[in-house]
Amino acid sequence: MRPRAQPLKSNPMLPLLKTEQLTKVFGGFCAVDRVSLTVNEGTIHSVIGPNGAGKSTLFKMLTGMLKPTSGRIWFAGHDITGEPPHVITHRGLAQSFQITSIFPRLTVLESVQTAIIARLGRCFDFFSRFHQSRAVRQQALEIIEQVGLSELADAEARTLSHGDQRALEVALALATDPKLVLLDEPTAGMSPYETRRMVNLVRELAQKRNLTVLFCEHDMDVVFEISDFVTVLHQGRVLVEGKPDEVRRNETVAEVYLGSEVQQ
Ligand SMILES: Nc1ncnc2c1ncn2[C@@H]1O[C@H](COP(=O)(O)OP(=O)(O)OP(=O)(O)O)[C@@H](O)[C@H]1O
Ligand SMILES: [Mg+2]
Repeated sequence: MRPRAQPLKSNPMLPLLKTEQLTKVFGGFCAVDRVSLTVNEGTIHSVIGPNGAGKSTLFKMLTGMLKPTSGRIWFAGHDITGEPPHVITHRGLAQSFQITSIFPRLTVLESVQTAIIARLGRCFDFFSRFHQSRAVRQQALEIIEQVGLSELADAEARTLSHGDQRALEVALALATDPKLVLLDEPTAGMSPYETRRMVNLVRELAQKRNLTVLFCEHDMDVVFEISDFVTVLHQGRVLVEGKPDEVRRNETVAEVYLGSEVQQ
């Protein structure tokens, strides 16, 4: 059996997540170039930048899916650089992943229960199975309610609308009981109605669960509406960082990288 990582306790004196000079080189190409990022607990922090800026590569290094070429990642004060994804998840850093490609025939409730059981791991032993299964079901139903899918608890994941599938992906991330959730383009491909729902969901989660959210997003209205802090990446490097208003007013960002989208 694999050794299980301990969830990390955050230290209010330290940022929840910090990277130091994080770098990823593919062949001779530097996709993420000495990025030093600080994400404070309880904030909604967005990473923006044009296509190919390195946002997804940065996120994949944070979740352990890609090993950094150099640099360090600190989570709740512990160096997690190079740890595998399942260890990083147990430490409390979760990402949402595409449910439809993993559990397409499970229902919403079964999917969330499965994710909770995966987190409980060995604790879910034979003798306590009965009691735990009721507890797991209850916990799953609460998470499903939080993401607004209660009425679809018995629907198969593959039959959900695009917006509902993305909400289920967030539910699966929540099932790992995270401190920080990473969302890579949570509103991609969504209708205006679905986008609004996702915006409200992210905001509610941050407030009610005291979750820290790090997300990348192309929809600037969403970014400026819900972010506490924005980091702009360009060609793998941090170009500008600041509060949404500061970034919106920054001429380099507005003219060169975001074009007319922010010049409203
Ligand atoms: N596995 C890989 N091998 C080689 N190059 C890669 C790999 N993954 C990403 N890249 C390159 O690294 C750069 C950054 O890609 P990345 O996907 O991180 O950008 P992004 O900011 O997420 O873009 P988008 O907004 O389009 O999602 C791109 O030029 C991409 O082609
Ligand atoms: Mg990307």
